[in-house]
Amino acid sequence: MKSYEIAVIKGDGIGPEIVDEAVKVLDAVSEKEGFRLNYKEYLMGGCAYEAVGTPIPDITIEGCRVSDAVLFGSIGGYKWDNLPREMKPESGLLKLRKELGLFANLRPVSVFDELVEASSMKPEVVKGVDLLVVRELTGGIYFGEPRVNDGQKAYNTMFYTKDEITRIAKIAFDSAMKRRKKLCSVDKANVLEVSRLWRATVDEMAVHYPEVEVSHMFVDNAAMQLVRDPKQFDVILTGNIFGDILSDEASMMTGSIGLLPSSSIGGIVGLYEPIHGSAPDIAGQGVANPLATILSASMMLRYSLGQERAADIIDGAIKSVLKDGYRTPDLANYHAKEVCSTKQIGLVIVDRIKRV
Ligand code: IPM
Ligand code: MG
Repeated sequence: MKSYEIAVIKGDGIGPEIVDEAVKVLDAVSEKEGFRLNYKEYLMGGCAYEAVGTPIPDITIEGCRVSDAVLFGSIGGYKWDNLPREMKPESGLLKLRKELGLFANLRPVSVFDELVEASSMKPEVVKGVDLLVVRELTGGIYFGEPRVNDGQKAYNTMFYTKDEITRIAKIAFDSAMKRRKKLCSVDKANVLEVSRLWRATVDEMAVHYPEVEVSHMFVDNAAMQLVRDPKQFDVILTGNIFGDILSDEASMMTGSIGLLPSSSIGGIVGLYEPIHGSAPDIAGQGVANPLATILSASMMLRYSLGQERAADIIDGAIKSVLKDGYRTPDLANYHAKEVCSTKQIGLVIVDRIKRV
């Protein structure tokens, strides 16, 4: 039987609850499809800081490096907000992304027909939205040097090399070729040097993809266009911080930030995580929406393990569960027939998979 090694990082806040449900779903689908997943758990984030005094122990990085894929929940919490930067949970995640070379973060945004009214945006604006944010993940202002805060002045550096832009642009163009062949590159080239290099590099790359319709948009305009007419977008290519912001904005088209999965690729191993954070305000209450994590697990099967059919089964089960009105509390007001806890919705999905 084919078997895969999966590094599991549950993390902080709602992380453990949502990852547990994703693992149950993975077990159900792998049993059905006849392959095996061997999980090894690793610490990262605030929980790692508490246990071993660092948000990312070496053993976690090593464990991920030798695995076939990494499934990750979320990190962070109020408790660790005032730690020095290197000790903060977020630094753990950033270091892991960097060490694994995960320079490309793919965040698909598609709206389930059953949930068009759950969005804070008008149903006719969001119905049928299907876009992909390709976010650069290991460069830009998140990592640029110098960075300083001496109590009197503070600055960060938005830094990109041409090579860094080229490799993320290639991922975005390749993604566009598999989709509707439209690519919108988002920058702030009217103000920033780094954005002018970004734009010129994307244009150079475009020559190799004559079939792809390329446009450029300033980030402020893109933020506005996303809520005005999101259906104009297919692939959105952008840098680290703009992608962070625009993908949270885009998540609201789906009705809940608890619905957006992501994959981080380009390095030695793929990492799959929901785009949302650790939601410490609802942690431990059993009310978190695990669907973004379960959808991330499906992306893991599809992109890292090549188990397409298993991924289709998960995606189909989620669709049918939503269609039948099962909702976690974040979506309770929208055609809910049954409001479920985190565990209950996990079970309903597992049940569907077993019955396919
Ligand atoms: C995300 C998160 C992270 C980021 C944080 C937790 C460091 O917001 O994955 O979008 O900013 O990249
Ligand atoms: Mg974010």
